[in-house]
Amino acid sequence: MKKHLLLWFLLLLLSVNAWPQNLKAKIKVDLDRKTGELDRMLYGNFTEHLGRCIYGGIYDPQSPEANSDGFRKDVIQATRDLGVSVIRWPGGNFVSGYHWEDGIGPVDKRPRRKDLAWGDVEPNIVGTDEWLRFTKAAGAEPYICVNMGTGSLDEARNWVEYCNAKTGLYYSDLRAKNGHPEPYMVKYWGLGNEMDGEWQMGHKNAEDYSKYALEAAKLMKWSDDSIKLIASGSSNYVRDWAEWNRTVLNKLHDYIDYISLHHYAGNYDKDHNTFMARTTQVENSIRITEGIINEVRSKYKMKKPIYIAFDEYNVWYRTFNEGKLEEHYNMQDALVVALYMNVFVRNAHIVKMANMAQLVNVIAPMMITNGKLWKQPIYYPLQLFAQNCHGQNLAAWVECDRYDAGDFKSVPYLDVTAVHNEKTGELILNVVNRHKDKAIETSIVNQARKLTGKAVVTEVNSGSLTDENNEREQKVKGVSREITVAGDGFNYTFPAHSFTQLRIKIN
Ligand code: AHR
Repeated sequence: MKKHLLLWFLLLLLSVNAWPQNLKAKIKVDLDRKTGELDRMLYGNFTEHLGRCIYGGIYDPQSPEANSDGFRKDVIQATRDLGVSVIRWPGGNFVSGYHWEDGIGPVDKRPRRKDLAWGDVEPNIVGTDEWLRFTKAAGAEPYICVNMGTGSLDEARNWVEYCNAKTGLYYSDLRAKNGHPEPYMVKYWGLGNEMDGEWQMGHKNAEDYSKYALEAAKLMKWSDDSIKLIASGSSNYVRDWAEWNRTVLNKLHDYIDYISLHHYAGNYDKDHNTFMARTTQVENSIRITEGIINEVRSKYKMKKPIYIAFDEYNVWYRTFNEGKLEEHYNMQDALVVALYMNVFVRNAHIVKMANMAQLVNVIAPMMITNGKLWKQPIYYPLQLFAQNCHGQNLAAWVECDRYDAGDFKSVPYLDVTAVHNEKTGELILNVVNRHKDKAIETSIVNQARKLTGKAVVTEVNSGSLTDENNEREQKVKGVSREITVAGDGFNYTFPAHSFTQLRIKIN
């Protein structure tokens, strides 16, 4: 009998040790520690003439979902539901060979051209007027990127005139003739795409790009001085990437309002911890670029701010040109998107625009298969940020366990941002638990105003990190519930590999 008891006790001990033990953490939030106002433009996306993003994505006149302009109503609705504030177009690599005048006027007269970026034939059915109709229907600001690869200075300047000038000039009259007498007043204009990359049509070195972009910027601003210009910053962090940004900022500082950065994360070596750490690189590139912006602004005694537009980011590593970039995302990727968003929110004082690449089908939060639109796992964290994170970023203090993974050192398991939305009277906590299999019991200390006791928790999680969604099943999505939190602080356990958003009502 005694022997049996001992064996039973030993087995119990062994099995307890096999249970993953929870980790412990502490988060402190103080409403007075504001670090920057969140710009609505942080919740942007991107539509490029690539694969099924435009044709078969936003535009499909044959579909029963098409509106009278040929744009899909389900895509428009899902874009609105996502809370998309700004959409970048027409590329991407595509724009470096795009001549915008190919895409205006009678559709049957428009040329079909080979796109050398992605190897497709561009029918030019969706051009400037059509795409601007789409952004209007989707309730988003348009952001047009001009061709600094094979494009001319006149093309850049004329595009601004076509979109923004009152009638009475050649291009604005052409716009009126094409059915839109009122100026569109497109505010955001990009000075080329990834011009630092050798893969870009018309790739230039930093000096040559800066000289050319400066001349384009002058003509574009002289055509409409209300526009905001975004210079093409580093997309390639391998070599002298910071030097590219320094040259561009030194040359263009008088004319630009933003410098763009790009980043794509991949789970290249199938190591969860490394994948979860990739956005620390994004934060570094933002900090380094912010330093260079400060250096240039102080050198030229500038009053005008220059911000960062992170106008391409996402998980992208499974499909390249062959797969036309139709990534099927999983739970793990949703965590990385939440981590990207936390980086942008934490740096909201300097990052004033961010655009997930892209919107539909192509490395996108929504997919259409067999004529049906469905939402990928990455849709949900993005939507939670876009819908709820408005107001001021607060510096959140976090104490938790950390890990090393390859070149990434001391990565905290909990990644946290805190936002105070004065309009809704909410304190919003965005918490990613990077840990693959351990929950983290966290004490949340509010150092300022009283909590009312009411909170809504939304968790994006799923049984397995490899869980995906499809047109029949949404395994990964946000699930909300109301909770009561007592006193000035409370405890909350963040489950393994989860993104949790807590919206806490405060007095
Ligand atoms: O978003 C896909 C591609 O990634 C874009 O065309 C390019 O700018 C980047 O390299």
